Amino acid sequence: MAEKKSVTVTDNRNGNKVDLPILTGTHGPDVFDIRKMYSSLGMFTYDPGFVSTATCSSYITYIDGDEGILLYRGYPIEQLAEKSSYIEVCYLLLNGELPSAIQLATFTANITRHTMVHEGMRRFYSGFRHDAHPMAFMLGSVGAMSSFYHDSTDVTNPRHREISAHRLIAKMPTLAADSYKYSMGLPFNFPKNRLNYSENFLYMMFALPTEEYVVNPVHAKALNSILILHADHEQNASTSSVRLASSSGANPFASVCAGIASLWGPAHGGANEAVIRTLEEIGEAKNIPKFVARAKDKDDDYRLMGFGHRIYKNFDPRAMLIRDACHDLLEDMGDYDDPLFEIALELERIALEDDYFKERKLYPNVDFYSGIIMRAMGIPLNMFTVVFAMARTVGWIAQWMEMMDDPEQRIGRPRQLYVGKAQRDYVPLVDRD
Ligand code: SDX
Repeated sequence: MAEKKSVTVTDNRNGNKVDLPILTGTHGPDVFDIRKMYSSLGMFTYDPGFVSTATCSSYITYIDGDEGILLYRGYPIEQLAEKSSYIEVCYLLLNGELPSAIQLATFTANITRHTMVHEGMRRFYSGFRHDAHPMAFMLGSVGAMSSFYHDSTDVTNPRHREISAHRLIAKMPTLAADSYKYSMGLPFNFPKNRLNYSENFLYMMFALPTEEYVVNPVHAKALNSILILHADHEQNASTSSVRLASSSGANPFASVCAGIASLWGPAHGGANEAVIRTLEEIGEAKNIPKFVARAKDKDDDYRLMGFGHRIYKNFDPRAMLIRDACHDLLEDMGDYDDPLFEIALELERIALEDDYFKERKLYPNVDFYSGIIMRAMGIPLNMFTVVFAMARTVGWIAQWMEMMDDPEQRIGRPRQLYVGKAQRDYVPLVDRD
């Protein structure tokens, strides 16, 4: 008898039941398709935070949280971080395959030629307070792109989608560097086409008109790894925000703003900034137990930033790669020493020996060590999440393009369990207490 690949849900109150087909992917847990649940049983599913809910099928990224596996289009993150470049990973995430030499050269040239921003954007910046958080600057300037690039906002046009994708990937480093220069009251730099993606960002960030600036190759290599490791991560909060926003047909610039907004939160991409603030607050290794105790205290909502993950219940492979890159960078830099790195290593050691963290499978995540590397490169604390947003833009865009081509996708419109007041009649003011 053919295996019945379905789950049967029975409402025991009245015996109503429905068979829900089981769908199997390439890797990872099977899913059962609940789309006819409401029409069959008159009930919704309930899953705040989407702990057990697959919102789409995707070809792009796969995570195995128990095994600590992360694949971009099937390629292990360890191999890509060691052997690839961020621009090549962008091509891979967007197109599904590693590029040939010609394809890589063409794609790189295309991205390079879109790195400048409309000069009107730079006038637009002047409305920001100089001390605005750079993530607020990014929200405003990426959103403003939809007012400068009207020629590519027809999301039903594949060519418009492609040019918007290239513009966003190309211009994020320029906008990011501009946000930093603006906050410092320093002149903006124009991108240099002879530099690669990471080198160009560092140049635009740190070059001054008063002297020659030579990109530090060690920094550029470390940034390349950081960008690759942050490029995509399945249906995380910011990616899901981009998908939900663009499911209404909103243009990609506006939809990426939804991703930037979500990423800014300290529970998500804002954690890298919060980790450094925690390490600075700890100050010395002898203070670590006090902070670990606070993180364990149920009466204290304090959390150890950079620890824990919705999916990784083993090491976040990115955290391990970044920790190693941290070590290599600090070694390469020789005369540079960051006491926070030693505190981070000791905090990791102590936390991972603690039953509270072991029982809850709380391991360092991608944000735990990334700030140490960025500090070593001279990137200021309030720019850490901007770098994350810069790296994740290709993931947001790849997921957006996949959704736009997915025949199953429609406007996202979750339902709810209503627990408010039962229906009641209006009470005239005179009759109220
Ligand atoms: C990113 O989704 C992604 O893929 C995100 C990301 C990506 O690439 O897009 O990987 C990037 O956002 C990484 C995560 C960065 N955030 C932080 O480092 C902030 C600190 N971590 C947490 O707030 C938390 O771990 C989350 C938000 C990451 C995950 O939250 P969950 O899955 O909802 O887990 P939870 O809050 O239900 O916690 C489970 C238990 C709770 O204890 P109990 O109620 O069971 O007793 O673990 C505890 C939590 O109190 N816990 C922590 C903790 N994280 C979870 N306790 C102390 N410190 C922490 N950091």
